[in-house]
Amino acid sequence: MENEKKVMLSGIKPSGDLTLGSYLGAIKSWAERADTYDCYYFMADLHAITVRQNPADLRRRTLEQLAQYIACGLDPEKNTLFIQSHVHQHAELGWVLNCYSMFGELSRMTQFKDKSAKNAENINGGLFTYPALMAADILLYQPDYVPVGEDQKQHVELCRNIVQRFNGIYGDVFKMPEPFIPKVGARIMSLTDPASKMSKSENEDTGRVLLMDEPDVIMRQFKRAITDCDTENCVRYDPEAKPGVANLMTIYSSVTGRSFAEIEAEFAGKGYGAFKPAVGEAVVEALRPIREESRRLMKDKAYLESVYRSGAEKASYVAEKTLRKVYKKVGFLQR
Ligand code: TRP
Repeated sequence: MENEKKVMLSGIKPSGDLTLGSYLGAIKSWAERADTYDCYYFMADLHAITVRQNPADLRRRTLEQLAQYIACGLDPEKNTLFIQSHVHQHAELGWVLNCYSMFGELSRMTQFKDKSAKNAENINGGLFTYPALMAADILLYQPDYVPVGEDQKQHVELCRNIVQRFNGIYGDVFKMPEPFIPKVGARIMSLTDPASKMSKSENEDTGRVLLMDEPDVIMRQFKRAITDCDTENCVRYDPEAKPGVANLMTIYSSVTGRSFAEIEAEFAGKGYGAFKPAVGEAVVEALRPIREESRRLMKDKAYLESVYRSGAEKASYVAEKTLRKVYKKVGFLQR
């Protein structure tokens, strides 16, 4: 069953609720690609436990994330949607690739440095070898492209190093994957701190909007968004001088399809007082159908279960082929 379509794969950790940033920066464009690419998307629960999780929350979020993927337009008939821990080949190839990842290169990962600074009481081995598991996630499916945010590019580069090292020893086992960084909406920033990415944090004060937030919460978040401490009070795209305004313009542009020039014209002479609630309202309308559909899906557990079951089955079929090849190459005796 050879497939002519190019293959894409990506995952999101269910370690926090999905945000407007996850939607605009990733999931929205995933949904638009289903006809052109053969796509695999998964909930990276194995990765989530590198930071301590409450088990009940992790379970709930994993299922909610699946419901939200579907509500955002990822059609389970056209995409393979699965839960990472359901496809045991991830952990198995992850181990093998650990042995082809160097201590030095793992030590250079900025995410490891950031996370170990933030979780000083739990700098575990999984946090350190995270990129080897991520390389396994990717390579099992031999994808052409890996859509990721800017912050994950370094991990994909490490995956490419592993491919080079492994193929150098054993021949052409893995296809070389390319990172695929979206141009628009790649980085939706925090509404209160436009220098940092909008995070899945629990805390509303970090300027994040969740996919499931109610309209009044969304409006409040946008009304108190940081514009900039310039006296100009003018909607103009200038990410250097006015990063807060630029972020709001990016969001508004992503949800309305309007260009920056059109947005500047729309708000000419109106100032931030008119602009901020307008962005809020546009976001409320864009998220409304997603929130409603996610709610409906969360009540249909049997359907969600059928989606993740058949997703894991499809994924596992492909993953097993790669894993078997790798086991043979490294010298494991066949069962
Ligand atoms: N590390 C990614 C993140 O934190 C999630 C992830 C895990 C992933 N495995 C992946 C992304 C494989 C792309 C491909 O966002």
